[in-house]
Amino acid sequence: MIDEIKKRLSELKNPVSGQTFGSEGRWKHITLNDEKLIVEYNRDGISPNEKREIEKNIIDSLSDLVGLENIMVKTVSHQSQDVFKALDKSESSATKSPEPAAAPAQLKVGHGTIDKKKPVPGVGKILAIGSGKGGVGKSTFTANLALTLHRMGKKVGIIDADIYGPSMPMIFGKRDEKPRSNSEKKIIPIESYGIKFMSFGFFINEQDPVIWRGPMLGGVLNQFLFDVDWSGLDYLLIDLPPGTGDIQLSMIQNAHVDGAIIISTPQDIALLDAKKGAEMFKKLNLPIVGMVENMSSFICGHCGTEHHIFGEGGVQKAVEQMDLKFLGQIPLEIELRTGSDMGEPYMSQTRFKDRPVWKSFETVGHKVDEFFQPSPEQGKTGFFSKILGFQK
Ligand SMILES: Nc1ncnc2c1ncn2[C@@H]1O[C@H](COP(=O)(O)OP(=O)(O)OP(=O)(O)O)[C@@H](O)[C@H]1O
Ligand SMILES: [Mg+2]
Repeated sequence: MIDEIKKRLSELKNPVSGQTFGSEGRWKHITLNDEKLIVEYNRDGISPNEKREIEKNIIDSLSDLVGLENIMVKTVSHQSQDVFKALDKSESSATKSPEPAAAPAQLKVGHGTIDKKKPVPGVGKILAIGSGKGGVGKSTFTANLALTLHRMGKKVGIIDADIYGPSMPMIFGKRDEKPRSNSEKKIIPIESYGIKFMSFGFFINEQDPVIWRGPMLGGVLNQFLFDVDWSGLDYLLIDLPPGTGDIQLSMIQNAHVDGAIIISTPQDIALLDAKKGAEMFKKLNLPIVGMVENMSSFICGHCGTEHHIFGEGGVQKAVEQMDLKFLGQIPLEIELRTGSDMGEPYMSQTRFKDRPVWKSFETVGHKVDEFFQPSPEQGKTGFFSKILGFQK
C-alpha cells in the first residue's frame, strides 16, 4: 500500500506552480506505521490558503486507502536565513514595493532605533519561543501555551514575528481582521479566545511574496513591541521565525526579553538545530526557561496506544547534556492541527480536557509560570535561575 500512497502523493499538484509535488521534490517523509500515515512536505512558498487546499487534496487523494483519522500531515520550511537569501535574489525582479495591505494601522518598515532593552509598557514578562528548525510546531505551541496560561488566569498576548509564515491569524480564526489604531496612535491588538495578538499576517496579503528584507525586521518587531497597546498583560509570547541567524538575533537583542523556550521534535536533525538555538539564547544572556519536545509520540484516537514515531526521549537527553530544564512532551494529535487550520485552537476547546495533549500543555504552562513566580522558599532570584546558573 505504501507504494500506491507514494505514487499518488508524488502526483499531487502544487497549486502555486502547477507542478507535481514529486517533480518539485517536496516530500520529506512518508511513513506508514500500524495504519498511521505520517507525511511531511516542504511548504516554502506556500501561503496558509494554499496549505489548506493542499492538505485537503492529500486527504482526498488517499481517502480510499487510509482513514482521515489516521493521516497526519506535517510541514517543514527552511530557516529564515535561506529564505532571505532567496528574497535578496528575487528583490531586483520584484516590481511591487513592500506596502502593507490597506489598513488603518500601518507599519513603518525600517531599522529599529529604540533604546537597548527598553521594557514594554504594561507587560509583565516577555517570553520568546524559538526553534532552530522550521516546522517543529513552534506556532502551534505558542498559541496553545498562550491559551493554557489564559486558563490559569493570566492575561496573555502574542507577537507573531514570523514574516514568511505568519500563522496566528489562521490559528485564532481572524484572517480577515485589520488592526486599527487608538487615539494615542497605538495599534490595538486583535483579540480571540481571550488572547491579544499581532501578526505580520495582518499587514501582508497572503498571496504576495514576502519581500521585506531581513535587516528591516528588527524595526518591525520593535513596532510590534512598542507601538501596540499591550497594557495589562502578564505574559507576552513572541513566536520567532525559525533559525538562529541574524534576523532572530536582531529581533531579540533590542527588546527586554525575560526568557526563552526552545521547541524541538525528537528527530536528530531538529535536535541539533535546537542546540544551536540554545547557544544563540545563551549568547544573548537570555534565560532559557526550558525545552519542549513536540510531536513526541502519536496517540491512537481509537485505542489510546502510544507510538514513538520519531524516537523516544531524545529531547530529554539533549536537555541533560545542555544543562537545561525539560518542560514536557506534546504528543502528536490530529486535532491540534485541524483545530489550528479551522481557527479553533486546541486549548480553547474544553472537549479535549481529558486528553494527554491537554494535560501536557497544563504541565508546561505551570512550569513556565513557576519559572517566573518562584515560591518564597525558592528565594528571590528564582530556583531555576539558580540551578541554571544565571541571575535575573
Ligand atoms: N503535536 C502536534 N500534533 C499534530 N500536529 C501538529 C503538532 N504540532 C504541530 N503540528 C502541525 O504541524 C505543522 C507545523 O506546525 P507549526 O506551523 O506550528 O510549526 P512551526 O515550527 O511554527 O513552523 P514554521 O517553521 O513553518 O513556522 C502544522 O500543520 C501544525 O498544525
Ligand atoms: Mg510558525
